Amino acid sequence: MAEKIALEYQFQHKHIFGIEQLSVPDITHILATARSFREISSRPIKKVPTLRGKTIVNLFFEPSTRTRLSFEIAAKRMSADTFNISAATSSATKGETLIDTARNIQAMNPDVIILRHSSSGAPQLLARYIDASVINAGDGAHEHPSQGLLDMMTVIDHKGRIEGLKIAIIGDIAHSRVALSDIIGFTRMGAHVHVAGPQTFMPCHIARLGATVCSSVQDAVKGADVVMALRIQMERQNDSLIPSLREYSRFFGVSRTLLELAKEDVIVMHPGPINRGVELNPDVADGGRSVILEQVTNGVAVRMALLYLVLGGSKGSDGQGEGR
Ligand code: CP
Repeated sequence: MAEKIALEYQFQHKHIFGIEQLSVPDITHILATARSFREISSRPIKKVPTLRGKTIVNLFFEPSTRTRLSFEIAAKRMSADTFNISAATSSATKGETLIDTARNIQAMNPDVIILRHSSSGAPQLLARYIDASVINAGDGAHEHPSQGLLDMMTVIDHKGRIEGLKIAIIGDIAHSRVALSDIIGFTRMGAHVHVAGPQTFMPCHIARLGATVCSSVQDAVKGADVVMALRIQMERQNDSLIPSLREYSRFFGVSRTLLELAKEDVIVMHPGPINRGVELNPDVADGGRSVILEQVTNGVAVRMALLYLVLGGSKGSDGQGEGR
């Protein structure tokens, strides 16, 4: 039966707006495709012709190190032509709207636009005005789907599965697009997600997504297979929602002492960038349980898979299929 489902499965998404739109077979297929592409990055010559002739534009209206670079590396490893536009150096600084910017980029006939924007829903809006595929690289406090997928890939690498795991997500749940993508993704794949943080960082709708809201960080971390710390998203807050960073670190920072409550083989994750000594103690960030740099490595493979699949690639298990 499982084989029949796998044979009949077809990836149907032209755009990637969020984990919300992805079914369990979609997520499974994306991760299988990413896994099949991962070894390309460890070859002496890290290049395959799969997306030769395709044009991919990174359109970033917010800062990024990991997401932007890994989408660019992913595209280049598959022989696509890539171009980067950041808000600071674009005509957005002269008052051009997102739609006008997108229409002008569309006039140059790209195949994929990867968008990071401070407004939730900006990728969906963009997709209404252009023919190219749109991949959301983080929209406001909404979603960051490629991060959610690379997080799931990293957990499977270490635990062999997602179903049944206890995943503790600590910190600024309200303003984090990673939190939303991870809660939706891990819950959909059968994990038990527990969240904890200051009350001012806890949106009231979060329990409706299937997460358990804990009254203390200790409750969230107790018996956890995975502990994920999130950065405080200062850029999305008009007022200070915590008394001080020192106090935050004392009550919500992930320390070695806190980790003693988790399972012995717990892994520690963080989407980056880390505020060392705030949400994560440096000895935990650099310690033996940390898989933070593996998350970054998996980011390239997941983004190769997303580019390949939105452009019509169809093979999930061996990655040998040609893009459309
Ligand atoms: N995780 C993440 O989105 O990092 P960047 O902001 O550096 O892309």
